[in-house]
Amino acid sequence: MPTDRNALRSPRRRPLIAPSILSADFARLGEACRHVLDAGADLLHLDIMDGHFVPNLTMGPAVCASLRRAFPTACLDVHLMVTDPAKFVRPFADAGADHCSFHIEAVDDPRPLADVIRASGMTAGLVVNPPTPVVRIEPFVDSFDLVLVMSVNPGFSGQAFIRESLDKVRRLAPRLRSDQRLEIDGGVNQSTAPECLAAGCDVLVAATAVFGASDYAEAISGLRSGAPVA
Ligand code: DX5
Ligand code: ZN
Repeated sequence: MPTDRNALRSPRRRPLIAPSILSADFARLGEACRHVLDAGADLLHLDIMDGHFVPNLTMGPAVCASLRRAFPTACLDVHLMVTDPAKFVRPFADAGADHCSFHIEAVDDPRPLADVIRASGMTAGLVVNPPTPVVRIEPFVDSFDLVLVMSVNPGFSGQAFIRESLDKVRRLAPRLRSDQRLEIDGGVNQSTAPECLAAGCDVLVAATAVFGASDYAEAISGLRSGAPVA
């Protein structure tokens, strides 16, 4: 399990693969996480939903803290889909998260919260939903370590990839510094990953395409390689 809590702070090398535990069997969560980390996952992506910002409920800081205890060297990538992200930064920092992303749709000016996240010892990410124009986030991207482009409307795993999201990726990729990451989330699978990588993404989130696969290592290396699927 060669994992690196600083994966998102390290210089960009190969694309990072972030399995979303939303599609894991929650009754066997520890085992499932061990398997994906052993299979080459770079991050564990935690989808935090409050039943208000999105129409689903998932997990809270207690799950993050348990994963931290079980996997001390794993990089925990928290994706807050909540109406009041400021309320949850400290609880997730205390629970051992390494990274915290929140949505532009939940705030007016995201910069103060990026500062709070970094002051809490985590890297900060800004997320944009499919209906939100890219111009809404452009004035703020310099203040973040990572930009996350949603390629589904968040709430559930297993949805179809919204291809127009790649227009945002193509526009943002050349504008980011070499120390910033561009992540994509939703409907990423063996068919869509090559397009995501070609457009400029270097962190791929995948729930169904990893946890729904019979061979996690094959799924992860397939996503990373970006080889087009015939
Ligand atoms: C969107 C979540 C995603 C989602 C991805 O609701 O933020 O992380 O679980 O699921 P797949 O990879 O199945 O589209
Ligand atoms: Zn997510």
